[in-house]
Parts: sequence; structure tokens; C-alpha cells
Amino acid sequence: MPVPAPNLFPDFNTIRLSHACLNVKDLAASKTFYCDILGLQVTDESDSHIYLRAMEERGHHCLILQKSDTPGTVEVMGFKTFAEDDLDRAKTFFESKGRPTEWVERPYQGRTLLTSDNMGIPLEFYHKMDRLAPIHQKYELYRGVKPLRIDHFNVFSHDVDASVAFYSEFGFRVTEYTEDDESKKLWAAWMHRKGGVHDMAFTNGTGPRMHHVAFWVPTPLNIIDLLDLMATTGYVDSIERGPGRHGISNAFFLYILDPDGHRIEIYCSDYQTVDPDLEPIKWDLKDPQRQTLWGAAAPRSWFEHGTTFVGVEPIESDMKASPIIAP
Ligand SMILES: [Fe+2]
Repeated sequence: MPVPAPNLFPDFNTIRLSHACLNVKDLAASKTFYCDILGLQVTDESDSHIYLRAMEERGHHCLILQKSDTPGTVEVMGFKTFAEDDLDRAKTFFESKGRPTEWVERPYQGRTLLTSDNMGIPLEFYHKMDRLAPIHQKYELYRGVKPLRIDHFNVFSHDVDASVAFYSEFGFRVTEYTEDDESKKLWAAWMHRKGGVHDMAFTNGTGPRMHHVAFWVPTPLNIIDLLDLMATTGYVDSIERGPGRHGISNAFFLYILDPDGHRIEIYCSDYQTVDPDLEPIKWDLKDPQRQTLWGAAAPRSWFEHGTTFVGVEPIESDMKASPIIAP
């Protein structure tokens, strides 16, 4: 199916992805991973939750770790709207698509709409999150990989064409995509609201499941420093793929796994995409430079491992076209 034309005037205005809530088994172990190793900052914590933000972020949180009996699952993915009344228009939009909607109480977030996408992925939208004092020049606080901000989500979808069509309707625009040459169906797509390569990406596979949450860092050298830190502090088995440079997005990357198996990408140096007439870049699934510009293939786990969304049973994809997988 061809990539849909961008909807430049959607019913409501989402400005960017905002946060994710991940279910974890042991809050102390997760705090060590996300704070001492990655370098995120705690903005609140209790016996059940830890709220974190990255160094450039003024909003209260970009990641919530939630103690859970079902660790290794994802509670919700969060997005910020441009204005308060975008939330009402979002409610109308999702209801018109037959999706459930409800207003929910979320600490620090103001009025929050909980809904789900066409695959059942739990999504929440808010406009006004509590704002915190800037810390980006408090260099004494920088640790780990020096994460500056959350950058994107990537999820497995059992029907990437359907996912792309749905998100296109509310204004997400495709920047790059991979097509299966034989079926002409989408195998993967990268879609944005904020003017980078993506806020949300879809990868063919048993879905919906979360593939990864990505954080932006200042330079590739920060990724090398993180690898040295992880390799000498007991986290060597948590390093899954990379470092490298993606063909798609041109970003420098590293993939690691948190103590509950949630995949985190460390990411930097993609490009600006704000032009409304930006033409998407097409990639062939069998192009060895698609995954990694330098030609190295990703391991099998990268195409198979994901974390499920609470209450959503994944469905196997019909599409069996395979990317290049490392031996
Ligand atoms: Fe990514």
C-alpha cells in the first residue's frame, strides 16, 4: 500500500511524544539502571512509582517506572497536545474511530485522556504537565549517557499499513519507510509530529508490542562512555545491539535492555523534518545499509523480542518477509 499523503490539518494537534509508563519488578534495581547507569533524574518517588526526566526536559516526567505484578509490560505511551481543547477534539476523534476514551487522573499531568490506537496500544494525551526549573546547565548533575530528552517510541505492529494509516489520520507524517518488494506492503515506517525523523515507528512483527523507547544524547562519544560503564558494572549482558549508525534516520544508536527486558535505545544526530512537503525516503527490506549504514546486521533478538502492553494480546503478523538477520 502506498504511504498515505500527510494530513497537515488534523482534527487535533499533537506536538510530540511525551512519556511512557513501564511496569517493573524491582524499583530499586530499575532506579540503579535508569539513574546511575543511564543518568535520568528522579523528580518524584514512592513505594510504587519513580518519576524521571532527562536533562533538557522542563516537564515533570518522561518515564514512569511502576512497581507491578506483571513486570516487563507497558502501561501506556503518552503524548502532549498543543492546547487544552485539543484534548476534547482528540476525544471526539478517537470515539469516531470506535476507540474507548476516558478522562483519567494522572499525577503532575493535568487533564489526561486515556484511549487506544487501532491495534489496542494504550495512549494518553495531556496538555499541561507540571513544569520544573531548568537543569540543562547544572553540569554537576550529568551522569551516565547524559540523556537530554526522550526522542521516540518504536512498536511492533502486525499490520504496519493499518498502523500508518491510523496515525496519519491524526497528523503523524511518514519520514522514512521500508516496503516489501513482493507484496508492496509496508514492513516498517517512521512517523513524526515534532520535526525529527520520528515520534513513533512501526516494525512488522507479532504486535502490538513495544520494541523500544529512545532517548536523545549529545554525541556518539556519550554512547561509547555508556558502553564502558555498562561493561564494567555488571551490565554487559544488557547490551544488545550497536553501537552503530542507522541507514534509516542517519542516527547514531545503541540498544540495551533494562532489568525487566524493556528495550531502550540511546540515539543521537538524526535530521530536521519540519517541511510539510518533505518527501519520505523509501528503503528496500534487503538493503544491508538500511539497519546499519556500516552494513552490520542486527541480531535475531532485535526482530523478535518486545514487551507487551497491559491487557493487549499480540497477534502474529501475516507478513513473513524477512530482513537481513545476523548469523
Ligand atoms: Fe529507534
